[in-house]
Amino acid sequence: MKRIAIFASGTGTNAARIIEHFTDHSTVQVALVVCNKPKAGVLSIAAAHHIDTLLIEREQFLNGDGYVTALRQRNIDWIILAGFLWKIPDSLLRHYKGHIVNIHPALLPDFGGKGMYGNYVHEAVLAAKVNESGITIHYVDEEYDHGATIFQARCPVLANDTANTLATRIHTLEHQHYSRVIEELICR
Ligand code: GRF
Repeated sequence: MKRIAIFASGTGTNAARIIEHFTDHSTVQVALVVCNKPKAGVLSIAAAHHIDTLLIEREQFLNGDGYVTALRQRNIDWIILAGFLWKIPDSLLRHYKGHIVNIHPALLPDFGGKGMYGNYVHEAVLAAKVNESGITIHYVDEEYDHGATIFQARCPVLANDTANTLATRIHTLEHQHYSRVIEELICR
């Protein structure tokens, strides 16, 4: 079994899809949900699926061991980011190099970087008047939204789009692709 930890601190719709996708899977198991917000929706999703959760603190994450010990104790093989905003510290990158994956709600390298999350991304896309946006699934390295691209999917930006309508279209794309791309990556 390959054991995944999902790092998520928001609503957790992607996390929910991933958890459902790998329920009773032959080779991949969502073993842990890691979160930095005690009230995040993703924690109830994890609880409903009887998945272990780990609530993390900023100081230990960024300046301590990055929770490497806790992850190793749980035999975690892969880290999947799904709405996790803190920068991944070097300690974690060193131990999980090539095994940390993120999803970004735009076509990187455009519209990424620090502060580019949620509707800020979609507002920037609309302001740039581009006619296409999409999703990028990529490896995580020491810079925000920077590691090698694994997969991209595109969707149109419509003339009457708002950040919210574009966000909905992008979320649909994320839900369609993220679990499958993770599966292909881990099981290849
Ligand atoms: C997604 O749009 C993802 O691209 C970004 O964070 C969002 C998480 O959404 N990294 P949800 O909590 O999975 O609904």
